[in-house]
Amino acid sequence: MTENFNEIQKRILELKKEKKALILAHNYQILDIQEIADFVGDSLQLARKSEEPNGYEMIIFAGVKFMAEMAAILSPTIPVYIPDPAALCPLAAYLDAEKTRAKKKEYPGVPVVVYVNTTAEAKSEADMICTSGSAVEVVESMGVDRVIFGPDSNLADYVRTHTNVEIIDLDPDGLCYVHARFKTEMLDELKKKYPDSLAIAHPECPLEVQQVSDMVGSTGMMANTVAETDAKVVLIATELGMVQQLQKRHPDKTILPFFEDAICRQMKKHTLEKILDVLENKPEENLVTVPEEYVPHIRKILEAMNKLKGQGPAAKVSVETT
Ligand code: 13P
Ligand code: SF4
Repeated sequence: MTENFNEIQKRILELKKEKKALILAHNYQILDIQEIADFVGDSLQLARKSEEPNGYEMIIFAGVKFMAEMAAILSPTIPVYIPDPAALCPLAAYLDAEKTRAKKKEYPGVPVVVYVNTTAEAKSEADMICTSGSAVEVVESMGVDRVIFGPDSNLADYVRTHTNVEIIDLDPDGLCYVHARFKTEMLDELKKKYPDSLAIAHPECPLEVQQVSDMVGSTGMMANTVAETDAKVVLIATELGMVQQLQKRHPDKTILPFFEDAICRQMKKHTLEKILDVLENKPEENLVTVPEEYVPHIRKILEAMNKLKGQGPAAKVSVETT
């Protein structure tokens, strides 16, 4: 992609070099931010990029707070800054340590796998951690018949449909407010106009949406699928930033969202101005820290996840419909 940078982007690019800053951005960021980032990806890819990057003196993480915390844990010698510290993923608020402890009591000996979209406190109670791109592989790597899993109940359904391991919900009500809004009717309407299109959905979407989609996977897996498909029209069920990125990368294809306002307001809190402020002033309140008592355990499980092969199956969901 060749870019025509605006003035603030140019200033960021200059300062980024001068201050040896690595800018990591999630796929849901506005395109202006994606364009100046060193790397744009899904949670798993960003976790891997965060592991002690060489030659940098600071990391600026444009994503929600739990992602920036993940980077702070994985790169302890490099300060991590978040452009807007109020960018909190509401899904992460579903799970606290107490809820997890109660489930462990109910199912003694059953290991707990938490989604990376959780607070550090909740992660501290988990045996293992996963992203949407690694969930199935992580669950299967536990080598057991049942696993306590959460808090996203749609991702739990996705894992259930891809493994024989029994999945016990940590929170059957846990949902992402952005992905929970996708409906099969949206796809039905689009398919009338684009019968040969390919439909791809994030596993945080409801199971029925997963079932009618041609591919279900993380945002990184979506990017790979769109790059590889021969389909001229691709219909996307995830946050709009991903749709905009894919349309920009693939001008020869038509990339359409299932609906227009699938927007994560927390991801969108970051702006170029806030990134510039971090580069210029390194404000203390933008520095990402994780309570010391949680760090060793979370680092251990994050590193274990990062060592797994990676992006899991990008497959059509094949469950019986009733
Ligand atoms: P990915 O890891 O697939 O990018 O998902 C992160 C997320 O927050 C989805 O809502
Ligand atoms: Fe959290 Fe949903 Fe936003 Fe992802 S899209 S960061 S799960 S609120």
